Amino acid sequence: APAQTLAGLRLLLTAGPTREALDPVRYISNHSSGKMGFALARAAAELGAEVTLVSGPVTLTTPPGVTRVDVESAEQMHAAVMERVRQHDIFIGCAAVADYRPAQISAQKIKKTADNDEMVLQLVKNPDIIAAVGALANKPFTVGFAAETVDVEQYALDKLHRKRLDMIAANDVSRAGQGFNADDNALTVYWQGDRRELPLSDKLSLARHLLDLVADRYRSSRAP
Ligand code: C5P
Repeated sequence: APAQTLAGLRLLLTAGPTREALDPVRYISNHSSGKMGFALARAAAELGAEVTLVSGPVTLTTPPGVTRVDVESAEQMHAAVMERVRQHDIFIGCAAVADYRPAQISAQKIKKTADNDEMVLQLVKNPDIIAAVGALANKPFTVGFAAETVDVEQYALDKLHRKRLDMIAANDVSRAGQGFNADDNALTVYWQGDRRELPLSDKLSLARHLLDLVADRYRSSRAP
Protein backbone atom coordinates (compact mmCIF):
# COMPACT_ATOMS: atom_id res chain seq x y z
CA ALA A 1 0.00 0.00 0.00
CA PRO A 2 1.26 3.57 -0.71
CA ALA A 3 2.46 5.78 2.17
CA GLN A 4 -0.60 7.23 3.94
CA THR A 5 0.31 10.86 3.26
CA LEU A 6 -3.34 11.98 3.47
CA ALA A 7 -4.32 9.90 6.54
CA GLY A 8 -6.76 11.71 8.81
CA LEU A 9 -7.59 14.35 6.19
CA ARG A 10 -11.05 14.90 4.72
CA LEU A 11 -11.00 15.75 1.03
CA LEU A 12 -13.92 17.10 -1.03
CA LEU A 13 -13.74 16.93 -4.82
CA THR A 14 -15.88 17.96 -7.77
CA ALA A 15 -15.67 16.07 -11.06
CA GLY A 16 -17.29 15.77 -14.45
CA PRO A 17 -19.43 18.16 -16.46
CA THR A 18 -22.61 19.89 -15.38
CA ARG A 19 -25.87 19.73 -17.33
CA GLU A 20 -27.94 22.86 -17.71
CA ALA A 21 -31.54 22.07 -18.66
CA LEU A 22 -33.38 23.94 -21.42
CA ASP A 23 -36.59 21.97 -21.22
CA PRO A 24 -37.60 18.48 -20.01
CA VAL A 25 -35.59 16.75 -22.78
CA ARG A 26 -32.68 19.07 -23.63
CA TYR A 27 -29.61 20.50 -21.94
CA ILE A 28 -26.33 22.39 -22.49
CA SER A 29 -23.17 20.60 -21.36
CA ASN A 30 -19.52 19.93 -22.32
CA HIS A 31 -17.17 17.03 -23.13
CA SER A 32 -15.72 16.50 -19.63
CA SER A 33 -15.50 12.75 -18.89
CA GLY A 34 -14.78 13.05 -15.15
CA LYS A 35 -11.70 10.82 -15.54
CA MET A 36 -9.22 13.21 -13.87
CA GLY A 37 -11.52 13.86 -10.87
CA PHE A 38 -12.29 10.15 -10.42
CA ALA A 39 -8.56 9.32 -10.64
CA LEU A 40 -7.90 11.92 -7.93
CA ALA A 41 -10.65 10.46 -5.74
CA ARG A 42 -9.23 6.94 -6.14
CA ALA A 43 -5.64 8.05 -5.45
CA ALA A 44 -6.65 10.18 -2.43
CA ALA A 45 -8.53 7.24 -0.87
CA GLU A 46 -5.45 5.03 -1.44
CA LEU A 47 -3.34 7.67 0.37
CA GLY A 48 -5.64 7.43 3.40
CA ALA A 49 -7.93 10.45 2.92
CA GLU A 50 -11.66 10.36 3.71
CA VAL A 51 -12.98 11.30 0.26
CA THR A 52 -16.31 12.81 -0.83
CA LEU A 53 -16.76 13.12 -4.58
CA VAL A 54 -19.47 15.46 -5.91
CA SER A 55 -19.97 14.32 -9.48
CA GLY A 56 -21.85 15.62 -12.48
CA PRO A 57 -23.31 13.07 -14.94
CA VAL A 58 -20.54 10.64 -15.97
CA THR A 59 -20.33 6.94 -16.85
CA LEU A 60 -17.57 6.03 -14.38
CA THR A 61 -17.74 3.70 -11.38
CA THR A 62 -17.16 5.03 -7.88
CA PRO A 63 -13.62 4.22 -6.63
CA PRO A 64 -13.36 2.00 -3.53
CA GLY A 65 -13.91 3.77 -0.20
CA VAL A 66 -15.16 7.00 -1.83
CA THR A 67 -18.48 8.63 -0.85
CA ARG A 68 -20.21 9.85 -4.01
CA VAL A 69 -22.85 12.56 -4.34
CA ASP A 70 -24.47 12.82 -7.79
CA VAL A 71 -25.67 16.15 -9.15
CA GLU A 72 -26.66 17.48 -12.57
CA SER A 73 -26.57 21.28 -12.71
CA ALA A 74 -23.99 23.84 -11.54
CA GLU A 75 -26.49 25.16 -8.99
CA GLN A 76 -26.93 21.65 -7.55
CA MET A 77 -23.15 21.14 -7.49
CA HIS A 78 -22.70 24.50 -5.74
CA ALA A 79 -25.30 23.57 -3.08
CA ALA A 80 -23.81 20.09 -2.56
CA VAL A 81 -20.33 21.59 -2.08
CA MET A 82 -21.32 24.47 0.21
CA GLU A 83 -23.32 22.07 2.40
CA ARG A 84 -20.23 19.91 3.01
CA VAL A 85 -17.09 22.00 2.49
CA ARG A 86 -16.76 23.28 6.08
CA GLN A 87 -16.25 19.68 7.24
CA HIS A 88 -13.26 19.21 4.91
CA ASP A 89 -9.53 19.99 5.07
CA ILE A 90 -8.89 20.03 1.33
CA PHE A 91 -11.12 20.99 -1.63
CA ILE A 92 -10.22 20.14 -5.23
CA GLY A 93 -12.40 21.61 -7.99
CA CYS A 94 -11.92 19.33 -10.96
CA ALA A 95 -15.39 19.70 -12.48
CA ALA A 96 -15.94 21.43 -15.82
CA VAL A 97 -18.78 23.58 -14.51
CA ALA A 98 -20.92 25.27 -17.16
CA ASP A 99 -20.26 29.00 -16.93
CA TYR A 100 -23.81 29.89 -18.02
CA ARG A 101 -27.24 28.25 -17.83
CA PRO A 102 -30.48 28.97 -19.71
CA ALA A 103 -32.29 31.91 -18.09
CA GLN A 104 -35.51 29.89 -18.07
CA ILE A 105 -36.17 26.17 -18.06
CA SER A 106 -39.24 25.62 -20.22
CA ALA A 107 -41.79 23.39 -18.45
CA GLN A 108 -42.74 21.85 -21.81
CA LYS A 109 -40.60 20.69 -24.70
CA ILE A 110 -39.68 23.72 -26.82
CA LYS A 111 -41.42 23.33 -30.18
CA LYS A 112 -40.02 23.91 -33.62
CA THR A 113 -42.22 26.41 -35.47
CA ALA A 114 -42.79 26.77 -39.22
CA ASP A 115 -42.36 30.57 -39.21
CA ASN A 116 -39.07 30.82 -37.27
CA ASP A 117 -35.70 29.77 -38.71
CA GLU A 118 -33.78 31.28 -35.80
CA MET A 119 -33.99 30.93 -32.05
CA VAL A 120 -32.25 33.04 -29.42
CA LEU A 121 -31.32 31.49 -26.08
CA GLN A 122 -30.80 33.76 -23.11
CA LEU A 123 -28.17 32.55 -20.64
CA VAL A 124 -27.32 33.69 -17.11
CA LYS A 125 -24.07 33.21 -15.22
CA ASN A 126 -23.71 30.21 -12.91
CA PRO A 127 -22.17 30.48 -9.43
CA ASP A 128 -18.40 30.01 -9.43
CA ILE A 129 -18.10 27.11 -6.97
CA ILE A 130 -14.38 27.21 -6.31
CA ALA A 131 -14.36 31.00 -5.94
CA ALA A 132 -17.13 30.62 -3.33
CA VAL A 133 -14.95 28.10 -1.47
CA GLY A 134 -11.91 30.38 -1.82
CA ALA A 135 -13.88 33.26 -0.28
CA LEU A 136 -14.77 31.34 2.90
CA ALA A 137 -13.20 32.30 6.21
CA ASN A 138 -11.20 29.27 7.42
CA LYS A 139 -11.33 27.86 3.91
CA PRO A 140 -9.94 24.42 3.23
CA PHE A 141 -6.69 24.06 1.25
CA THR A 142 -8.18 24.83 -2.17
CA VAL A 143 -6.95 23.41 -5.48
CA GLY A 144 -8.30 24.43 -8.89
CA PHE A 145 -7.84 23.30 -12.47
CA ALA A 146 -7.42 25.43 -15.56
CA ALA A 147 -8.03 24.04 -19.04
CA GLU A 148 -6.70 26.53 -21.53
CA THR A 149 -5.73 26.58 -25.21
CA VAL A 150 -3.56 29.74 -25.21
CA ASP A 151 -1.54 31.73 -22.63
CA VAL A 152 -1.86 28.80 -20.20
CA GLU A 153 0.45 30.19 -17.52
CA GLN A 154 -0.98 33.69 -17.53
CA TYR A 155 -4.58 32.47 -17.16
CA ALA A 156 -3.64 29.90 -14.50
CA LEU A 157 -1.86 32.49 -12.34
CA ASP A 158 -4.73 34.92 -12.80
CA LYS A 159 -7.17 32.24 -11.54
CA LEU A 160 -4.89 31.33 -8.63
CA HIS A 161 -5.10 34.90 -7.34
CA ARG A 162 -8.60 35.92 -8.40
CA LYS A 163 -10.28 32.80 -6.99
CA ARG A 164 -8.03 32.77 -3.89
CA LEU A 165 -6.71 29.26 -4.54
CA ASP A 166 -3.77 27.63 -2.76
CA MET A 167 -2.76 25.72 -5.89
CA ILE A 168 -3.80 25.42 -9.53
CA ALA A 169 -3.14 22.62 -12.03
CA ALA A 170 -3.10 23.83 -15.62
CA ASN A 171 -3.44 21.70 -18.74
CA ASP A 172 -3.11 22.72 -22.34
CA VAL A 173 -6.25 21.23 -23.90
CA SER A 174 -5.16 22.25 -27.40
CA ARG A 175 -2.51 19.47 -27.43
CA ALA A 176 -3.66 16.18 -28.95
CA GLY A 177 -4.13 13.15 -26.70
CA GLN A 178 -4.38 15.01 -23.40
CA GLY A 179 -6.98 16.82 -21.36
CA PHE A 180 -10.72 16.43 -22.00
CA ASN A 181 -11.83 12.83 -22.36
CA ALA A 182 -8.28 11.56 -22.95
CA ASP A 183 -6.70 8.85 -20.78
CA ASP A 184 -3.43 10.78 -20.49
CA ASN A 185 -2.70 14.28 -19.33
CA ALA A 186 0.17 16.62 -18.50
CA LEU A 187 -0.09 19.38 -15.91
CA THR A 188 1.82 22.41 -14.75
CA VAL A 189 1.07 23.04 -11.09
CA TYR A 190 1.42 26.58 -9.70
CA TRP A 191 1.29 27.92 -6.16
CA GLN A 192 2.47 31.13 -4.53
CA GLY A 193 6.11 31.50 -5.53
CA ASP A 194 6.74 28.16 -7.25
CA ARG A 195 5.66 25.65 -9.88
CA ARG A 196 6.14 22.03 -10.88
CA GLU A 197 5.79 20.28 -14.26
CA LEU A 198 4.03 16.91 -14.14
CA PRO A 199 4.86 15.27 -17.50
CA LEU A 200 2.42 13.41 -19.76
CA SER A 201 1.22 10.19 -18.12
CA ASP A 202 -1.98 8.31 -17.35
CA LYS A 203 -4.43 10.21 -15.16
CA LEU A 204 -4.02 7.90 -12.12
CA SER A 205 -0.22 8.39 -12.00
CA LEU A 206 -0.72 12.09 -12.52
CA ALA A 207 -3.30 12.17 -9.70
CA ARG A 208 -0.80 10.50 -7.33
CA HIS A 209 1.91 13.04 -8.19
CA LEU A 210 -0.48 15.97 -7.81
CA LEU A 211 -1.66 14.65 -4.41
CA ASP A 212 1.96 14.32 -3.24
CA LEU A 213 2.35 18.04 -3.95
CA VAL A 214 -1.01 18.81 -2.29
CA ALA A 215 -0.07 16.84 0.86
CA ASP A 216 3.27 18.65 1.01
CA ARG A 217 1.87 22.14 0.47
CA TYR A 218 -1.08 21.43 2.80
CA ARG A 219 1.31 20.59 5.63
CA SER A 220 3.50 23.68 5.03
CA SER A 221 0.42 25.92 4.93
CA ARG A 222 -0.87 24.45 8.23
CA ALA A 223 2.54 24.37 9.98
CA PRO A 224 2.63 26.49 13.18
O1 C5P B 1 -12.53 30.06 -14.75
P1 C5P B 1 -12.45 28.61 -15.09
O2 C5P B 1 -13.79 27.95 -15.29
O3 C5P B 1 -11.50 28.27 -16.19
O4 C5P B 1 -11.81 27.97 -13.77
C1 C5P B 1 -11.60 26.61 -13.66
C2 C5P B 1 -11.63 26.20 -12.22
O5 C5P B 1 -12.76 26.77 -11.56
C3 C5P B 1 -11.80 24.71 -12.06
O6 C5P B 1 -11.17 24.33 -10.85
C4 C5P B 1 -13.32 24.56 -11.98
O7 C5P B 1 -13.70 23.36 -11.33
C5 C5P B 1 -13.70 25.79 -11.18
N1 C5P B 1 -15.04 26.34 -11.47
C6 C5P B 1 -16.04 26.26 -10.51
N2 C5P B 1 -17.27 26.81 -10.77
C7 C5P B 1 -17.52 27.45 -11.94
C8 C5P B 1 -16.52 27.53 -12.92
C9 C5P B 1 -15.28 26.95 -12.66
O8 C5P B 1 -15.82 25.68 -9.44
N3 C5P B 1 -18.72 27.97 -12.15
